[in-house]
Amino acid sequence: MSGTGGEAIYVDPTFASFYDLENGDAAEGGRPDFDFCRQMAANAASVLDLGCGTGELAASIAAGRRVVGVDPAAAMLEVARGRPNGGQVTWVNCGAAELDLGERFDLIVMTGHAFQTLLTDQDVLDVLSAIRRHLAPEGRFIFDSRNPAVDEWKEWTREKSERTVLHPQFGVCAAWNDVAYDAQTGIVTYETAYQAEGRPVLSSFARIRFIDRDHLDRLIAASGLVVERLLGDWQGTPYEARSKEIIPVGRLR
Ligand SMILES: C[S@@+](CC[C@H](N)C(=O)[O-])C[C@H]1O[C@@H](n2cnc3c(N)ncnc32)[C@H](O)[C@@H]1O
Repeated sequence: MSGTGGEAIYVDPTFASFYDLENGDAAEGGRPDFDFCRQMAANAASVLDLGCGTGELAASIAAGRRVVGVDPAAAMLEVARGRPNGGQVTWVNCGAAELDLGERFDLIVMTGHAFQTLLTDQDVLDVLSAIRRHLAPEGRFIFDSRNPAVDEWKEWTREKSERTVLHPQFGVCAAWNDVAYDAQTGIVTYETAYQAEGRPVLSSFARIRFIDRDHLDRLIAASGLVVERLLGDWQGTPYEARSKEIIPVGRLR
């Protein structure tokens, strides 16, 4: 393990090798977002997964339908390509905003709060435009953004986040996060750190944005998209002011 700088959390292959251990279907708490999207995909002939990361969801639904997974981080896509059924997915190495495949999909998903990596209104509008140009006339999109009203980032302090992770190569690693919040921009800067015994700390800082429901509504409305249902969690509960998540399910206007 060696230290890296910048937003290495997705770009650095060592960090990418930790992702599924902490965030995969088999990790503690599972992935209710994947479960929900798999149900939505049941009737879809084609699925586009934006910010697909290590590709666990995309690969799991690839049998019998066209699935495209898109991510700007080559290290994450490397994991995706190597997983079971990874060969059945078309992987595209680019940011969601830049995507222009010239085809439309029955379902577009953006899970795991990948949406929150979009730090400005323009970034969000550009990705919503990409959703609009890739969505089939009867297609649906879904993504998740944490509700700023519940301040989940307050749990991401070192004290509250210290844990261990069993890595197949590095053995038992100490892991922790730390966090800073900029109230003016809604941007949270968080550290992710791993340390295997006798090795240096591998640490990276990344930024994500928390935007509120009304703000998100305005950006979606400005993008030629319509929200049909607004969920407050991945169990499908309708959104309310104190919901943990903001999850729009929508279509073309
Ligand atoms: C927390 S991971 C989520 C991965 C996966 N969707 C999941 O649910 O596990 C966030 C992902 O968003 C990707 N990402 C960052 N900026 C992006 C952008 N502009 N467009 C698409 N994906 C982006 C990162 O590379 C990373 O793989």
